[in-house]
Amino acid sequence: MERVNQILEHELFRKCYKKIEKWEKKREFCRHNMGHFLDVARIAYIYNLEENLQIDKELIYAAAMLHDIGRFKQYEDKTPHEKASLKYAPKILEDCGFSGQEIENILEVIGEHRNKDIAREHSFRGIFYRADKASRACFFCKSESDCNWKNEKKNMELFV
Ligand SMILES: [Fe+2]
Ligand SMILES: [Fe+2]
Repeated sequence: MERVNQILEHELFRKCYKKIEKWEKKREFCRHNMGHFLDVARIAYIYNLEENLQIDKELIYAAAMLHDIGRFKQYEDKTPHEKASLKYAPKILEDCGFSGQEIENILEVIGEHRNKDIAREHSFRGIFYRADKASRACFFCKSESDCNWKNEKKNMELFV
């Protein structure tokens, strides 16, 4: 996981992360923080094993660390955050030694992580979409009624 550890140390990653943290200081639910990134990585890795997709663990963790990294742009100027993340992720991935093909795979997952049309796919982007949603415990969230997620998107019961 050496390259993923390099992502965590990357100056641009840290800069973006700090900006998200600032915007979400008062956000009560669904923060886009390291806890969320790790939940998504671990759930996606479980799905990867269960579905025998044999996706490299490092690629899953790299995608999880970077999929929401542009979230601050959505707060700043309403840029959809999957698009903003696509702006910052390539430089970070290149600097951390990911190959052209690996970067392409990761960027596809980041770019599609809010596209519900792929939710059932038996693929890297499919498991990642499901892991991102499954990471949110809406059924136990005290702000559930204030949340702008559509009801069908919320996890109102535990699913694994
Ligand atoms: Fe997201
Ligand atoms: Fe996310």
